[in-house]
Amino acid sequence: MSSIDLSIELAGLKFKNPLLLASGTVGYGYEISNYLDLNQIGGIVTKSLSLNPRKGNPPQRIVETASGMLNAIGLANVGVEEFINEKIPFLAKYDTNIICNIAASSINEYVECVRILTTQEEIDAFEINVSCPNVKEGGLIFGNNCNAVGQITDRVKSVSTKPVFIKLSPNTSDIKDFARIAKDNGADAVSAINTLIGTAFDIWSKKPKIKNITGGLSGPAIKPVALAKVLEIHRNVDIPIIGIGGIMDFSDVIEFMIAGASLVQLGTVNFINPDAGFTIQKDLTGYCEQTGLDKINKLTGTYILN
Ligand SMILES: Cc1cc2nc3c(=O)[nH]c(=O)nc-3n(C[C@H](O)[C@H](O)[C@H](O)COP(=O)(O)O)c2cc1C
Repeated sequence: MSSIDLSIELAGLKFKNPLLLASGTVGYGYEISNYLDLNQIGGIVTKSLSLNPRKGNPPQRIVETASGMLNAIGLANVGVEEFINEKIPFLAKYDTNIICNIAASSINEYVECVRILTTQEEIDAFEINVSCPNVKEGGLIFGNNCNAVGQITDRVKSVSTKPVFIKLSPNTSDIKDFARIAKDNGADAVSAINTLIGTAFDIWSKKPKIKNITGGLSGPAIKPVALAKVLEIHRNVDIPIIGIGGIMDFSDVIEFMIAGASLVQLGTVNFINPDAGFTIQKDLTGYCEQTGLDKINKLTGTYILN
């Protein structure tokens, strides 16, 4: 038994380690549970939920790129009712935090989803997705507009009995302005970043490889962008940050924490090494032992810029 403390406290919640599984990359937990013991991770962020079920975009919805992937799933999900009846009972068996990610086409829909779901005691927090690049309504229309992000945060907070994290887009001018407005309206943390808009063409048909034309770029290709966004927020706004983008191993996690993240999320890596959550956690302990760090939470924001 190691004496290293990997636990993190954030918004009144205790996470056994800084590792969360990112929304959309592990379904509702069941999908990865044969490969990873969900008891080993700090928390799981569920696939974005909308009030009613959504089919998402027509295929092709995913394509591999250099050091990453493009996806345009279009928020396919089971909707709030089926989530409560079919998905929560499975997740409730695990000793980990359940963070329910919400995406919606209107401010009222965000509020309605949270109003219903906040009564579920197994849900520990909400992550509000105002940054999906792959839907026509909602998503980035909100995520690109500071007033909308402020309003959504304020309205969701007014009905939520749980902490609220706002998931920010990198496809904006100054991410710090969005983090600030989220904080000013009561957000408990911000998650950064969602995917970057990208595309790819088939050179023979001259058509986009993705039916939606553009998709969201994720994976190692976006890590430097994500780190810069986390740093920008940390240097300008006093709010806990959940770092996301291209994390593949423990050293990426350490980088995000140095840049200012308190927690991190594993996304695309789950498609490559579905047990990454387990290996990374072991390697984090190794890093702490090697560097004489007793508590990993001491790493957050320890950058030395000159
Ligand atoms: C296939 C796929 C589906 C995704 N679906 C969602 C989603 O429903 N809601 C959301 O907030 N983010 C979604 N994301 C974004 C991820 O949660 C994460 O922010 C992004 O992939 C960057 O992290 P990564 O580089 O580690 O994958 C999705 C990403 C992928 C690859």
